[in-house]
Amino acid sequence: MMRRFLAPDYSVPPVIAGAWQLSEGHSSRTVDRASLFAAWDLLAANGCDTLDCADIYTGVETLIGEYRAARPHQRVQVHTKFVPDRDALAQVDRGYVTRIIDRSLERLRTDALDLVQFHWWRYEVPGMIEVAGFLDDLRRAGKIRHLALTNTNTSQTHALLDAGIPLVATQVQYSVLDRRPAAQLAPLAQRRGMHLLCYGSLAGGFLDHAWRGANDPQGTLENRSLTKYRLVIDDCGGWNALQRVLNTLGDIAERHGVGIANVAQRWMLDQPGTGAVIVGFRGEASARRTLQTLALTLTPDDHAHLASVLDELPMPAGDVYDAERDPQSAHAGIIKYNLNATNA
Ligand SMILES: NC(=O)c1ccc[n+]([C@@H]2O[C@H](COP(=O)([O-])OP(=O)(O)OC[C@H]3O[C@@H](n4cnc5c(N)ncnc54)[C@H](OP(=O)(O)O)[C@@H]3O)[C@@H](O)[C@H]2O)c1
Repeated sequence: MMRRFLAPDYSVPPVIAGAWQLSEGHSSRTVDRASLFAAWDLLAANGCDTLDCADIYTGVETLIGEYRAARPHQRVQVHTKFVPDRDALAQVDRGYVTRIIDRSLERLRTDALDLVQFHWWRYEVPGMIEVAGFLDDLRRAGKIRHLALTNTNTSQTHALLDAGIPLVATQVQYSVLDRRPAAQLAPLAQRRGMHLLCYGSLAGGFLDHAWRGANDPQGTLENRSLTKYRLVIDDCGGWNALQRVLNTLGDIAERHGVGIANVAQRWMLDQPGTGAVIVGFRGEASARRTLQTLALTLTPDDHAHLASVLDELPMPAGDVYDAERDPQSAHAGIIKYNLNATNA
């Protein structure tokens, strides 16, 4: 299995286990802790030793800290985020940054955070570069090993790099459906030695056999992730367009004897600039199925076949996360902006 080096001293496996799906309020379904830990153990045994979480995923840093404590001899790399509250941006100072980072250190039971991914909700509020500098000071002090971004467009990423912030990666939504990063951000990342850590590769689970040929689910979906990606599907041509993509992925999957999700993940790993896919797991079954992606190779014909379908599809407008930042957009309606205040 090929690990990808984000920095000379830091590498990640192709599949990172994402933990948003475990946060309180994400789903009405209770997560079975034994099955979850078994999933992480299984992934780690196959070289996928990295977890992704955030300061604002309620309860999750603490849960990962408990997992780490229960596995004292196992290597577990953890990527967290620093997402200052939208309504507090004007007040974010060195003390605020240090408080949140110290809290992550304590919850994750470590003395250094492997990777901190920074997000700034409103570019129009001054301070983003200065606050990134505070994070960099904590990196120099040894509390953070590496810095990255999340959900940041190309021009702001450029500005942070030009300000000397040593970014090794950026976490963005990128999938066969939402290919916004391909236009500008991925080329910038490649030029500046950064990698893309891609979430949404399964559209919250929609890119799976279970939805091929299924009717458009009306009303409430099982979890917040599906609700979020149902909006992305609308931006990409709607339910019928999703079915065309599922049929194409499904045909390729059948030729290789794998699942639709494996083809969607491998397509993502094959795109220029990709460092890893971040996949949400709540239990062992999905982790076991995802391991098949590590051994899957798509042929040039598979890629050409998929491209011929994808090229016909519309996409969310603008650059990375622009639509989600628009307060008038449907996406904005489901985002929670001030979780650090309530997540103390
Ligand atoms: N920076 C951000 O704003 C942001 C936003 C979203 C997500 N993320 C990160 O990315 C992670 C992944 O979230 P996502 O939104 O990208 O979700 P996703 O990975 O596209 O979808 C997760 C869902 O797919 C299912 N699944 C996993 N592997 C599968 C397989 N091989 N076959 C079929 N189904 C499979 C899981 O099922 P089970 O639940 O049954 O295991 C889960 O419900 C999050 O946990 C978080 O760490 C970051």
